[in-house]
Amino acid sequence: MPNKNFNSENLELKDTLEINFTLNSVKRSVKVPCTYTLLDILRYELKFTGTKEGCGMGECGACTVIMDGGVTPACLVLATTLEGRDIWTIEGISAKDDAKPIIDAFVARTATQCGFCTPGMVVASYHLLSKYVSPTDDQILEALSGNLCRCTGYVKIIEAVKAAARDLNTVKKEGRDA
Ligand code: FES
Ligand code: FES
Repeated sequence: MPNKNFNSENLELKDTLEINFTLNSVKRSVKVPCTYTLLDILRYELKFTGTKEGCGMGECGACTVIMDGGVTPACLVLATTLEGRDIWTIEGISAKDDAKPIIDAFVARTATQCGFCTPGMVVASYHLLSKYVSPTDDQILEALSGNLCRCTGYVKIIEAVKAAARDLNTVKKEGRDA
C-alpha cells in the first residue's frame, strides 16, 4: 500500500526523495530526483532497460509495466507516487513459467521485427492472458490498444497472443490430467 505519511506537496523540483517499492517481487529502495518517472528509475537508476522509452507521453506503450495488478505506462508514473507500489517489468514477467508460451509464440509467429515494442506487447499480453484464458479478438484488440508497433502490422502479434492462449490452455489441461 502507498505510504500515507508521504506528502509530495512539500517537495521542490531540485529535491531528491527516497522511495521504497517492490520490483519483480524484490523490495527496492532508491534515492532519485523527485522529477523522475518510474521509467527513469527503471532505466537510468536500476538499469532495467527491458522497459523501453518511446514517446514519453503515455501514447506508445513501449514502457508498459504492471503496477498494482494493472497495465500502466511507466513514463506516466511520477516517482512521488511510487511509494509502496508493486511493479512488474518484462525482466520479471519473462522469468515466469506462464510467460514462456507468450514469448515463444511471438518468436514462432515472427510477431517481433525491430523488437522495440515487444517488451510492452508481451507485458500487456501477459496481463490479458492472466485475466482471460481464451480471449476474444475484441479483448485482444482492447488489451493491446495502448501498444503501438511500427513494423509488424499487428496481425502476427494478434496471432501470437491467440497461439499463446491455446498453448497455455494445453499446459493447464495436461497439468490437470497428470
Ligand atoms: S514511452 Fe511510455 S507510453 Fe510511450
Ligand atoms: S516490432 Fe518494431 S515497433 Fe514493433
